[in-house]
Amino acid sequence: MEVLVIGDGGREHALALALSADPIVAAVHAAPGNPGTAQLGTNHPVAAADPAAVAALARELGVGLVVVGPEAPLAAGVADAVRDAGIPCFGPSAAAARIEASKSFAKEVMAAAGVPTGRAITCHDETEVAAALDALGAPHVVKDDGLAAGKGVVVTDDRAVALAHGTACGDVVVEEFLDGPEVSLFAITDGTTVLPLLPAQDFKRVGDGDAGPNTGGMGAYTPLPWLASEVVTQVVDTIIEPTVAEMRRRGTPFAGLLYTGLAITADGPKVIEFNARFGDPETQVLLPLLATPLAQVLLAAATGRLAEVGDLAWRTGSAVAVVLAAHGYPAPPRSGDPITGLDRVGGDAHVIHAGTRRQADGGVVASGGRVLAVVGVGESLTAARDTAYAGMADIHLDGGHHRTDIARTAAEQQSGQES
Ligand code: AMP
Ligand code: GLY
Repeated sequence: MEVLVIGDGGREHALALALSADPIVAAVHAAPGNPGTAQLGTNHPVAAADPAAVAALARELGVGLVVVGPEAPLAAGVADAVRDAGIPCFGPSAAAARIEASKSFAKEVMAAAGVPTGRAITCHDETEVAAALDALGAPHVVKDDGLAAGKGVVVTDDRAVALAHGTACGDVVVEEFLDGPEVSLFAITDGTTVLPLLPAQDFKRVGDGDAGPNTGGMGAYTPLPWLASEVVTQVVDTIIEPTVAEMRRRGTPFAGLLYTGLAITADGPKVIEFNARFGDPETQVLLPLLATPLAQVLLAAATGRLAEVGDLAWRTGSAVAVVLAAHGYPAPPRSGDPITGLDRVGGDAHVIHAGTRRQADGGVVASGGRVLAVVGVGESLTAARDTAYAGMADIHLDGGHHRTDIARTAAEQQSGQES
């Protein structure tokens, strides 16, 4: 079987890498892909969010499975168009992807399913935002009601800042602040059966110690030594399965990857957000530990046969991803700076390309905000992060920056538990 991956980021390179390791996969294609996916297979210059063009490419290539990476193509109906062409597609319909595309829709589904989440008020103008801020109190959480790539959220104690963001966005959701460590829990589903992945954590702020503005994600690790193992079962039972059942009941079954962003509060896990796709960079750490062949699982989910797969199998050990960002990120980044040292990264570390471009002379330059991730795999979090940071030390990008504290606290905790 040949597989087509839609998108051009780090998540798509990580998906292509894991898919190409599945023995049932004869070749991997990507559209549009990046220099990382080009190393694994063939890139095709087709716009990811053009449903007709993606379906036509999938038919022309004769692929047996299409895997859609980012949210924008899902919201645009790419998965619908591929399925209408008779080709299995891993990724929800546009109607089901609304669980990510609209924060107010997600809240409506959660309310109907009885899923624990923060109280929220949808607002349409300044007066409503002001009233909602006062009703819910500080810290204030104000979210753009549309897709904003993780950057449409302001969390602040400053009422004036919260009000300004709320007024600038148009429709916004003002939310109760959820206090507690954040966990990303992904589940693969065919609309009925739910298979959770390992819990992971990502680092959304640009700087060490969670300083500075929000980003798309500066690093990630899995598993989480500080999270009680029963929490995953609890989240599947009280959050993921009721949500999947509610989507089915509405006639818009969610088949694909349901990403639950959680706060582990004093009252138990509560939903911060749902996404309709694999998270980035969490995917970069989860897939290297997945022992079950990925293409077979995604094909089963895409064809309503996930119940036949059984629980996912995982390798022992840990994985840590550290993102290298371009000069200026998360403000508009500088493009075109050369990246050197990529060939030196090896052993238990590997490079996942995100915002890179290969030039005619073979050199690789930065072409996006999050440029690449170095992923380290090891027996412990300490080993995995040492490996990732050793790989990062081999790479040079003028003006590039990365966090130095990815998974540090968790690694210390894990070694404390063991000694
Ligand atoms: P989102 O775009 O919903 O992923 O939000 C981005 C980040 O804002 C989250 O990862 C949290 O760190 C923070 N955030 C969002 N909503 C809340 C909330 N209700 N309480 C606390 N923090 C939040
Ligand atoms: N890691 C955050 C996201 O993918 O939205």
